[in-house]
Amino acid sequence: MKLKNKIAFVTGAAQGMGAAIVREFVAQGATVYAADINAEAIDASVADLSGKAHAVVCNVMDEASVQAAMARINNEAGRLDILVNNAGTGSVDSFLDTPVENWDRVVGVNLKGSFLCAREAARLMVSKGIAGSIINFSSTGAATGEGPCHYIASKAGIMGLTRSLARELAAQKIRVNTLVPGPTDTPMMSGIPDEWMQSMIAAIPLGRLGQPAEIAHAVVFLASDDASFVTGQNLAVNGGSAFI
Ligand SMILES: NC(=O)c1ccc[n+]([C@@H]2O[C@H](COP(=O)([O-])OP(=O)(O)OC[C@H]3O[C@@H](n4cnc5c(N)ncnc54)[C@H](O)[C@@H]3O)[C@@H](O)[C@H]2O)c1
Repeated sequence: MKLKNKIAFVTGAAQGMGAAIVREFVAQGATVYAADINAEAIDASVADLSGKAHAVVCNVMDEASVQAAMARINNEAGRLDILVNNAGTGSVDSFLDTPVENWDRVVGVNLKGSFLCAREAARLMVSKGIAGSIINFSSTGAATGEGPCHYIASKAGIMGLTRSLARELAAQKIRVNTLVPGPTDTPMMSGIPDEWMQSMIAAIPLGRLGQPAEIAHAVVFLASDDASFVTGQNLAVNGGSAFI
């Protein structure tokens, strides 16, 4: 068990990669606070995890909501060891027709949400003297530029956020890294037209989409002591679709 007795906060945990990360963390011995903006879905997602995962309703782009989640973790668990900033959203817009409200929502959830959760998690870790691990979620598109402007800008911004936090929090022994998924089989991909999907798969050297569990295994590595000398880095899990 790589995460025995660790307390983790995982955002966007109701489905897709977040749900897989919660399950893998529990299997590795962690207690998980599994957060999502979708109250019904997060309850259902952790229902069978028998007290090892607790549902938290949280909007990551709302400061009060993130602070309330962190206060609950402090009250109930008294510490936090791992933050996984997995919550993310997108919108299919061409640049010239991008509504400003879509820019605000996508950048708000992906980048501001990661900042808010990291700040509140790091405050709790520092106050308890915890040598914690923070994992932020980018996208292979941040390197290739393939994708809508708000999504790609937010995911490239996350790499910068990671590097800044890695330097600033190193003195407190908190490690901060970026997980960079490639195309992965989750509900986020379900709206993509088949033709687009087939051309996406054709561009992946390993010839298939990733599975959420494969992302979760890499997150366990970054969260665990196996990665004790790894901070400020990009770890790409993308079937070879880009070298980051
Ligand atoms: N699926 C892919 O191919 C792919 C590729 C590269 C990067 N990513 C990134 O990986 C992460 C996980 O992706 P996924 O495919 O599992 O996504 P998904 O859409 O399947 O799940 C995302 C979850 O985040 C939640 N969420 C959205 N806004 C939120 C908010 N404001 N506060 C709290 N929760 C919120 C949703 O309710 C949902 O449960 C995201 O950051 C995504 O951008 C995904």
